[in-house]
Amino acid sequence: MDATVIFTVNGQKTTVITDPRRSLLDVLREDLHLTGAKYGCGEGRCGACSVIMDGRRVLSCITPVGEANGKTIRTIEGLADGDSLHPVQEAFLEVGAMQCGYCASGMILTATALLERNPNPTDEEIVKEMNVNLCRCNGYTKILQAVRRAAEKIRR
Ligand code: FES
Ligand code: FES
Repeated sequence: MDATVIFTVNGQKTTVITDPRRSLLDVLREDLHLTGAKYGCGEGRCGACSVIMDGRRVLSCITPVGEANGKTIRTIEGLADGDSLHPVQEAFLEVGAMQCGYCASGMILTATALLERNPNPTDEEIVKEMNVNLCRCNGYTKILQAVRRAAEKIRR
């Protein structure tokens, strides 16, 4: 049965009337046309669908949209401040931490949630946090460099 779900997405209060068991990813992509979060595995194993919910990274493919009721969601579309990219986006571009780019939105949001909680993580903490995020292009070395660089930018 459909329910009303009210949440804030990238600063905008948003109401959807839908089956609350649908995935948050499906609602973001299909209903709200926010296609930055990607469908990879659909079962919580690749991180391509990562978004930030109340400051924490969630895997939106396995998060029922009903769980987002009353919450604040950030997607890659809402990360930049007008024309100014977020420091994590800047760092990924500067380092060239993207090849096909399919994993990039999830990587950037996962790193953003980490660095907002802990702007000075060790490499081990970065790897632990980003462990679920898979890059099929095997760009892990540059991704780690980009997260380190983003951390420096955020601390400055
Ligand atoms: S699509 Fe969500 S974790 Fe893979
Ligand atoms: S850049 Fe292609 S999957 Fe990561």
